[in-house]
Amino acid sequence: MAEPFLIGDAMTGGYGGADILHDCTIAVEKGQIAVIVGPNGAGKSTAMKAVFGMLKLRLGAVRLEGEDISALTPQARVAKGMGFVPQTSNIFPSMTVEENLEMGAFIRRDDIAATMEQVYTLFPILRDKRGQAAGELSGGQRQQVAVGRALMTQPKVLMLDEPTAGVSPIVMDELFDRIIEIARTGISILMVEQNARQALEIADKGYVLVQGANRYTDTGAALLADPDVRKSFLGG
Ligand SMILES: Nc1ncnc2c1ncn2[C@@H]1O[C@H](COP(=O)(O)OP(=O)(O)OP(=O)(O)O)[C@@H](O)[C@H]1O
Ligand SMILES: [Mg+2]
Repeated sequence: MAEPFLIGDAMTGGYGGADILHDCTIAVEKGQIAVIVGPNGAGKSTAMKAVFGMLKLRLGAVRLEGEDISALTPQARVAKGMGFVPQTSNIFPSMTVEENLEMGAFIRRDDIAATMEQVYTLFPILRDKRGQAAGELSGGQRQQVAVGRALMTQPKVLMLDEPTAGVSPIVMDELFDRIIEIARTGISILMVEQNARQALEIADKGYVLVQGANRYTDTGAALLADPDVRKSFLGG
């Protein structure tokens, strides 16, 4: 089988104590959407952090476009084309929307105006609110700032840890539509989602993690159709 665009391959490791991840494999193809679901504490965020280099792996490797990047710092991974929106503290609340986007572009030395324009086209409300402190925005708008900020480095792969946390179903649908739009431009999306059913509906590939290990791995459609997955993880 061909090497995926990005893969965390057989990852084992934790935060210094006992291992949290056990032989966990997560991958995404170019321009596709891969979704990680699973119960609270399953290790979804830990798997994302491991792929982004915020966690030292005891075993396994992370490869981007076939290159082993396991030894790289998160900042070096950003330079390689990875963008990461963490589950918490993903914006600077006291800075304006526009300052947040500028901060997102920290590694760039070229003109960022065109990218900022793309972000404002994708999320028009952010243009209206660009001079406002990001902390004053609604939950859904803040998530747009967080995603927009990550897009400012022009990533090849965008990693999102629960982008729809705490937003209404309508806002969730809108955010998923924007995420699909981003993927259509060729950017790979690797995201963790609590709204498992809805996320798997837009997923090319899905991963059900339990206790730091892969429990089910298949296409989004196949997982949605699997009676065991439905019963245990999708509420029937
Ligand atoms: N910084 C940390 N230091 C030590 N242990 C941690 C740390 N962060 C998470 N853990 C532990 O790792 C395990 C997995 O946590 P993780 O945050 O990856 O789960 P999750 O699947 O993202 O959960 P949630 O759905 O609640 O976001 C938990 O047992 C948690 O207590
Ligand atoms: Mg988490």
